[in-house]
Amino acid sequence: MYKAPEFVISIIQDYWEHGRKILEIGCGPAFLRKVFAEDYIGTDITDSAYNDNLLRDVDIVCPADQLLIEDNSMDIVIIKSAFYLFDNPGACLKEAKRVLKQGGKLIIFDYNRKTQKELQLKEGHERYPCWTQWGLKKLVQNNGFSNVENLIATNRQPLGFRKIYSLLRQEILGNWAIVCGTKR
Ligand SMILES: C[S@@+](CC[C@H](N)C(=O)[O-])C[C@H]1O[C@@H](n2cnc3c(N)ncnc32)[C@H](O)[C@@H]1O
Repeated sequence: MYKAPEFVISIIQDYWEHGRKILEIGCGPAFLRKVFAEDYIGTDITDSAYNDNLLRDVDIVCPADQLLIEDNSMDIVIIKSAFYLFDNPGACLKEAKRVLKQGGKLIIFDYNRKTQKELQLKEGHERYPCWTQWGLKKLVQNNGFSNVENLIATNRQPLGFRKIYSLLRQEILGNWAIVCGTKR
């Protein structure tokens, strides 16, 4: 059975403790619910099954740019493997900011340029944005988040020069563009 990669859980746990509310936008099967239990809430544009073997597990059906969630109510907003699908990323970031409490964290786990190029070649289209991790960071900054940083797809985040090296390596050889920002 598929579950969320360990680094995804580990990064979220760096910002979470029991009682802190997590919203996942574009939650699909909501694999993170198993880990974060009653602190977790998932929204998606649909609650239809992908197929007989893979169901969606959605608390609230709504598009990412019109969240049916109260202002200032969430501690953490996660968007995993979904941001590239959103038609209006700027409007979705504004909604993420609206529902976060002050000091709350947005964490986006998206596919990087290399992965999107490979997917597009395999699937024969050019539908999805191909942002670098730095491009995604800029987009989050431009939509009003503070302390925005790129993260590495590992359980423990490297620091200093090792982080710079890891980011370059991730851009060229890795699959992920990960960005964390704070609502101020
Ligand atoms: C590839 S799945 C990822 C599911 C889950 N986040 C995970 O990592 O397992 C992307 C999900 O985003 C949802 N989605 C696509 N466009 C959306 C939108 N505009 N608003 C909300 N959800 C959307 C899809 O329905 C789908 O369930």
